[in-house]
Amino acid sequence: MSKIKKALERLKSDERLKSEAQTKAEETKEEEEKAIPVEKSGEIIYTKTKTIHVDSKKLKENKIVAIDEEDPLTDQFKVLRTRILNRTRAEGKRTIQVSGFGIEEGKSIIASNLAIAMAKETRQTTLLVDLDFRSPSIHKLFCLGDVKGLKDYFENNIPLEELFINPGIPKFTILPAGGRIIGAPEILGSPKMEVLVKELRERYPDRYIIFDTPGMSICPDPLIVSEYMDAILLVARSGVTDQDTIKSVMKIIPKEKLLGTVLNDFLWIDEIMPYYKYHYGE
Ligand SMILES: Nc1ncnc2c1ncn2[C@@H]1O[C@H](COP(=O)(O)OP(=O)(O)OP(=O)(O)O)[C@@H](O)[C@H]1O
Ligand SMILES: [Mg+2]
Repeated sequence: MSKIKKALERLKSDERLKSEAQTKAEETKEEEEKAIPVEKSGEIIYTKTKTIHVDSKKLKENKIVAIDEEDPLTDQFKVLRTRILNRTRAEGKRTIQVSGFGIEEGKSIIASNLAIAMAKETRQTTLLVDLDFRSPSIHKLFCLGDVKGLKDYFENNIPLEELFINPGIPKFTILPAGGRIIGAPEILGSPKMEVLVKELRERYPDRYIIFDTPGMSICPDPLIVSEYMDAILLVARSGVTDQDTIKSVMKIIPKEKLLGTVLNDFLWIDEIMPYYKYHYGE
C-alpha cells in the first residue's frame, strides 16, 4: 500500500473512533439529562428540578435586585459579573467561593445577585449553592420555605437531583443548605464533599457555580472549602469589617485563588484593581 493510501486509511479509522466516542458521550449526557435540569437551545427544561415561583417584589425586599433590569444596582452586578468572567473564563475557572471576613457583611446577598447576573449572560447557566451550615440563608433570601438541601445529601444520602430548586429565574438553579449541620468542618473536609464539588463542576461545562460560605474569621469551614474551589471572592462591609480581621484573613487565604474584594455598603469614589468597590442601597 502506498504511503498516501495508508495515511488515508489511518485517517478514516481515526474519524470512526472519534465518532464512536462522540456518540457514547452524547448517550451518557442524554441519560443524565433525564434526571437533572437540562439546557437546550439556551432554555433550561427542568425535569426533576422543583420550581418555586417567587414573587419578585418579595425578592427585591430581600435585596435580590439583579432580577430587575431597571434597578440601578443591576448594572453594578453586571460590571462585577463581567470582571469575574474576564478573569475566569479563559482559564476554565467555574467554581467561585463567596466568603468574607466576619458576619453580616452582605456575602449571601452579593453571592445571590452575582449568580443571577451571571445567569443573565447568555453563555452560561448558574448554580447557587448554600454552603453556610452555621447560618444558612439562601432559602430565606429566595423565600423558599423549609426546603431540603445539602444537609439531607450528606446525612441521609438524598440524591442531588431531588434537591435542586429553580426559583422561576431562567438558567438559574439553587442548591439549598437544608439546615444547620453540627460538625460541618468534618463533613466539608470529607471525600464526599470533594466528590460533590467535582460532580457539580463536571456535569455541565457551561455552568458557573457560586458557593455562599461564612466569613473566614468565623469558623474553619470556608478555609476548608477553599481547597476545592477555582476562585474566591471576598466581601467586606464598610463600617462592619475591621482592619485587623482583614489583615489576619489575608494571611490565611490562598491568594492565588483570590479574584478580589467587594466593598459593600460603600460610597463609590474611584476604582483600584483588583478590588471591586460596590455601593449598595441608601
Ligand atoms: N449594602 C447594604 N445595605 C443595607 N443592608 C445591607 C447591605 N448589605 C447587607 N445588608 C443587610 O445585612 C444583613 C446581612 O446580609 P447577608 O445575610 O447578605 O450577610 P452575610 O455576610 O451573608 O451574613 P452572615 O455572616 O450571617 O452569613 C441583611 O439583613 C442584609 O439585608
Ligand atoms: Mg450569609
